Amino acid sequence: MTTLNDQARAILRQNDRGGYTVPTAGLYPYQWNWDSAFAAWGFSTFDLPRAWVEMETLLATQWDDGMVPHIIFHQDDPGYFPGPDVWATEKTPATSGISQPPVAAIITRLMWEQSPQEGHDHMAALYPKLVKWHRWWHDMRCTHGPVAITHPWESGRDNCPDWDVGMAGVDGSDAGPYTRRDTGHVDPSMRPGKEDYDRYIAMVKFGVKVGWDQAKIVEDGPFLMADPGITFILLRAHADLAFMGRALGEDVSEIEEWAMSLRNALPLIWNPELEAYDAKDLRTGRFAGVLGSGAFLAYLAGASNPQLDAQLIRVWDAVRYGIPSADPQAAIFDPRRYWRGPTWPVVNALMAIGLRDSGLLDLESRLRVETAALIEKHGFFEYFDPMDATPCGGDSFTWTAAIWLTWANQDRDQLVGAT
Ligand code: GLC
Repeated sequence: MTTLNDQARAILRQNDRGGYTVPTAGLYPYQWNWDSAFAAWGFSTFDLPRAWVEMETLLATQWDDGMVPHIIFHQDDPGYFPGPDVWATEKTPATSGISQPPVAAIITRLMWEQSPQEGHDHMAALYPKLVKWHRWWHDMRCTHGPVAITHPWESGRDNCPDWDVGMAGVDGSDAGPYTRRDTGHVDPSMRPGKEDYDRYIAMVKFGVKVGWDQAKIVEDGPFLMADPGITFILLRAHADLAFMGRALGEDVSEIEEWAMSLRNALPLIWNPELEAYDAKDLRTGRFAGVLGSGAFLAYLAGASNPQLDAQLIRVWDAVRYGIPSADPQAAIFDPRRYWRGPTWPVVNALMAIGLRDSGLLDLESRLRVETAALIEKHGFFEYFDPMDATPCGGDSFTWTAAIWLTWANQDRDQLVGAT
């Protein structure tokens, strides 16, 4: 007889490859940046020393320029494409050439606060690396105001409709021949199509061509879009980083300045026609014109307003489980396709932090109950259909297990298979 808590802990242990945790065996066989931070949060509920190791392994892969990469290819695995040879970043260990949502400072603070004495030295050692990463975001990716991404995968919300206007401008015709591996692990109808994949690969090839010079990629690369999701995550992460810095007696004025200039840029991603924060193509100035879950991360940064509150309730009431990744009343809504409609327990957990801190306790509790119901019905899947709860993507997923342990299980651990 086991409980969901037991199962969640077992998933983290099974996906532990020694110092880092894979998102799920098969589909994602390496270390992913934000997945790893969530894994650390999950471990912190039952093995705090292991949690610190996860965060330390992640930050140890920081590039000299400050970037912390989105994938770290610790060991070769032929089951994943595009692998280290395609990214060709020439790092040891091999990594991809883009970053991912900077949730690490947010989660480092949560871990440190669980046990400030035990965590002090770990937090103090991570702090300068986190500052260097945040400086990279500010210097390299906030040149246009809000956070810009140079590849849809950098957003963590890889295939969401937010990026369609930017993707349309990317020429995928010289992607060359390649064999995808993702569609061998999960139902191809849930994954991005071939045209999109050609464009993803073309963007990687551009990075290789310029030797992963981030300034050149921002200036001339095929894709540059403002991402509301990372903008809000970074704003929140700056605040948490400054909080830790103050506790260490550091001068945090530089972090406060980054945060202020980022907050001042928020009007640039407010789309008055959509009545919401919106992604924007920074090459053409065109808004995406679609309401995605990135907009609702505004709560994390205390940046909501009554119009956005109304939008949240509208899209949420149109589904049954969790907050959808795209607007259910828009034509592009696709409830099972990657980031084009489904609900992600891990994104719900982030939004819940924002709702709670904004004093919206009823909404936080509604989100928790709906997310827990998905996991109770079907287990620890990557994501779910928000209309009928169908489990989608990979199974035994690290971040779903982690947010069960840290958030969704509150007051509701149950026996599984009890007679
Ligand atoms: C997908 C997701 C991304 C995640 C990765 C590993 O690429 O879109 O956010 O980090 O899978 O779980």
